[in-house]
Amino acid sequence: MRIFLFAASLRKDSYNKKLIRIAADIVKKMGTHRVDLCEFNEFLLPLYDGDLELQQGIPDAANKLGEKIKEADAVIISSPEYNGSIPGTLKNALDWISRIKPVPLAKKQVFLIGASPGKLGAVRGNLHTRVPFHILGSHVFPDYFGVALADEAFDAKGNFKDSRQRDSLKKLLESFIFYAGRKETPFDRLDEFIDEQKGKNPSP
Ligand SMILES: Cc1cc2nc3c(=O)[nH]c(=O)nc-3n(C[C@H](O)[C@H](O)[C@H](O)COP(=O)(O)O)c2cc1C
Repeated sequence: MRIFLFAASLRKDSYNKKLIRIAADIVKKMGTHRVDLCEFNEFLLPLYDGDLELQQGIPDAANKLGEKIKEADAVIISSPEYNGSIPGTLKNALDWISRIKPVPLAKKQVFLIGASPGKLGAVRGNLHTRVPFHILGSHVFPDYFGVALADEAFDAKGNFKDSRQRDSLKKLLESFIFYAGRKETPFDRLDEFIDEQKGKNPSP
């Protein structure tokens, strides 16, 4: 499988960048996947503006990010939470990407993870982050991996101080990749299923 990963933080010493590097390393060591790890800094975008889009089209950085997503079978994003929600930078990038047709995130398998110096491991923000992915038709993995107290979680080399965290992340990544690799998700057959049910129980 081709797996595209990035952390939705621009900060050089970002905890989410540390986390996504560990995730990429785990996936690489599984041996069978093509890993494409990028920095969010490679896709710097203007704020979405309909007039700008009309005059200049979709920015190159959005097309580049869209192309990376399109080429991948699965996408893993480590995102911080800002004020209990999705960081504006990530939402802005998703808004630009949603203007590319067909939308590169449609039917894409997505796993959201996150890190925060707080006690909740960015889980509140990532609940909000799920929303635009759902709206754009992505299949968001139901589980979540969050690193709480992230300012104390990593050593100087960027590894987890507690190796059990790496083990937990590895287990979830394996589940996600298994889920993402299935030929058919239940969502793909949802319309068919609804029609079948209607056939069984026609409305009066
Ligand atoms: C505008 C802003 C809002 C924040 N809101 C939250 C928050 O709601 N919950 C939280 O745990 N941390 C919050 N933080 C702290 C971030 O988790 C912290 O800056 C973290 O280091 C960001 O992730 P990064 O290290 O990957 O850049 C906020 C930080 C900023 C700058």
